Amino acid sequence: MSFLQIEKLDAFYGKALALSGVELSVEEGEIVAIVGPNGAGKSTLLDSILGLTTTNGDICLDGNSLIGTGSAAIVKCGVGYAPERCNLFPYMTVRENLLVGAFTSRENIDSNLELVFKLFPQLREREHQETSTQSGGERQMVSIGRALMTSPRLLLVDEPTIGLAPKICLEIAEVLRRLCKQFGTTIVITEQNTNFAMTLAERLYVLETGEIKASGTVDEMRNDARLTEAYFGT
Ligand SMILES: Nc1ncnc2c1ncn2[C@@H]1O[C@H](COP(=O)(O)OP(=O)(O)O)[C@@H](O)[C@H]1O
Ligand SMILES: [Mg+2]
Repeated sequence: MSFLQIEKLDAFYGKALALSGVELSVEEGEIVAIVGPNGAGKSTLLDSILGLTTTNGDICLDGNSLIGTGSAAIVKCGVGYAPERCNLFPYMTVRENLLVGAFTSRENIDSNLELVFKLFPQLREREHQETSTQSGGERQMVSIGRALMTSPRLLLVDEPTIGLAPKICLEIAEVLRRLCKQFGTTIVITEQNTNFAMTLAERLYVLETGEIKASGTVDEMRNDARLTEAYFGT
């Protein structure tokens, strides 16, 4: 069984089916991207791992089913989540937002803060600024930093590059790579930006209208003319 294993996952909003029969597996220490257009179900899939949606099917982390566990317990099991559009508290400082991330675990707070400031030196300089005064890139860094405050073994990042300049995207990619290499953190990102996804991830899943349409290593996907045309431009 893989580190993260999702089987026959359906997710619902009321009667509407947002995910249908999703099968996905991620090995420990891998970086995997889920790519797909707006409305494909990317956020729903990450929300489902956190137990935030109504689902059928199974989601296992390190051999244990997360279904019915509750979001706080899922975070304690080692899942960190940087949601879409960051969802920070705008009138709280960078430091306060990071501390909110530590609420569920309350362990290693100082060392985790230090790690976040090491990974994102800009945040140390702006530690006492309200996040409402920050750039989109800095807010994304706070959001990822907040997710790291519980020392996750699996980090989920929903569309980290949305609305960000290419230079900031590269910085964020570098930090995620470093987390994976240095700390063995397993990372799942979602992206509409397939180029970014392909430079960061080892494997990709293509999600469209709630279904996995294709998956494979970056090379496999790049060499498949049909896929390249349909999903990755030229
Ligand atoms: N809270 C919600 N209530 C009802 N429908 C929703 C809700 N959130 C998302 N959806 C629907 O579920 C589908 C997948 O959405 P989402 O997961 O946000 O896609 P993506 O993140 O890929 O843009 C879309 O059809 C969307 O309209
Ligand atoms: Mg989304």
